[in-house]
Amino acid sequence: MTKLKAVITGIGVYVPDYILTNEELSKLVDTSDEWIMTRIGIKERRILKGEGKGSSDLGVEAVNQLLKKTGTSPDEIDFLICATVTPDMLFPATANIISDKVGIKHAFSYDINAGCSGFLYALITASKFVESGLYKKAIVVGSEKMSAIVDYTDRATCPIFGDGAGAVLLEPTTEEFGIIDNMLQSDGYGRIYLHQKAGGSVKPPSYETIDAREHFIYQEGQPVFKAAVLNMADISVAIMERNHLKSEDIAWLVPHQANMRIIEATSRRMGLDPKKVMINIDRFGNTTAATLPLCLWEWEPRLKKGDNIILTTFGAGFTWGAAYVKWGYDGEKQETGSRKYET
Ligand code: UT7
Repeated sequence: MTKLKAVITGIGVYVPDYILTNEELSKLVDTSDEWIMTRIGIKERRILKGEGKGSSDLGVEAVNQLLKKTGTSPDEIDFLICATVTPDMLFPATANIISDKVGIKHAFSYDINAGCSGFLYALITASKFVESGLYKKAIVVGSEKMSAIVDYTDRATCPIFGDGAGAVLLEPTTEEFGIIDNMLQSDGYGRIYLHQKAGGSVKPPSYETIDAREHFIYQEGQPVFKAAVLNMADISVAIMERNHLKSEDIAWLVPHQANMRIIEATSRRMGLDPKKVMINIDRFGNTTAATLPLCLWEWEPRLKKGDNIILTTFGAGFTWGAAYVKWGYDGEKQETGSRKYET
C-alpha cells in the first residue's frame, strides 16, 4: 500500500477588530510601552468584544475563510479538531460548536487542550488520521478568547495575551510533502507555575473563588520563561538533527509567540538567520493555540512548495514540541483574500 503523508493545503485566520494598545493597558495597570516592548516584545493585541461571543465565534470566521479560500464544501470535511484553553463552555467541545455553526454535518469533532502547544498537538493528531487513509479532509483550528481569562488588574500577565483564531486544511498526499516528523513532550509538574486555579472539578466556581480572582490565568513568569527557552530550543535542535537538517536547509521557523526573548533564544540555538523567523507577536501578542496558524497565514504568500519549515511550541502543562514540515504549495498562487491584518 502507498504510504500517505498529511499535507496542509490552505490556511484561514481571524482576529477581532478591537486593538488593545500598550498605552491603553498602562491606564489599567502600572506598566509602560517601554517595559512591555523590552521584556516581551508586544505592541498591541486584539480583543473580542461583544456579549455572548466566545472562542467558537473566532474559530467560525477562520474556518469559513479557509473553506472559501480552498473551495471546500462543509460536506467534504471528515473531522475537525479544535485546540483551545478558552472553550465556549466546559462541554460540549468548542469543535462541536464550530462544526455546527459552519454547517459541517458529516464529521466528528473534538477539542484538544495542550496549552500554547495545542495547535501543534492537534495538527499531529489529525495528521495520523489522515495518514491512515480513512479520512480525506480534516480541519485543525486553534481558537482563543484569552481576554476571557486574563486578569486586567495583574500587570504580570495582562500584557501578554490576545484573542484570535487560525485554521488549516489537512489532506493526504502520496508525495514527499507535508508533516514529515514530529516530537511532542509534556511534564505535568509545570502546572504549578501556570494554571487556572478554579472552575474545574477540584475547585468549582463559588463566591470565594470569584472574590479571590481564581478564574484568571495564574503564571509565575520566570520559571515558565526558563523552561520555555530550554525546551523549545532543545526540541527544535533535536528535530533538526534527527532529520539531518542544517540551519541553511531550513526556510522558515514558526515559533510559538510568547515572548520575543524566547523566540530569539530558540532561533539562535538553531543557528538561524533572523530573517527566517516568523514573528508577529508585536501585533497579536500570545494568542495561545492560534499563534502558529496566524504566522503561517501571514507568511503564506512567501512560502514555496518544498520549503523546509520547523514549527515549535511551549505552553501550559508544561507541553512542548516541534514538527518538521515540507511545505506543500506555492503560497503566492493561492487566492488569499484580504490581508487586512498586515501593517
Ligand atoms: O505561552 C505560555 C507560556 N508562557 C510564557 O512563555 C511566558 C514566559 N515568561 C515570560 O515571558 C516573562 O517571565 C514575563 C514576560 C511574564 C515577565 O518578564 P520577566 O523579565 O521574567 O519579569 P519578572 O516577572 O522577573 O519581573 C521583573 C520586574 C518585577 O519587579 P521587581 O520585583 O523587580 O521590582 C515585576 O514586578 O518587573 C515587574 N513587572 C512589570 N513592570 C512593568 C512585571 N510585570 C510588569 C509590567 N510592567 N507589565
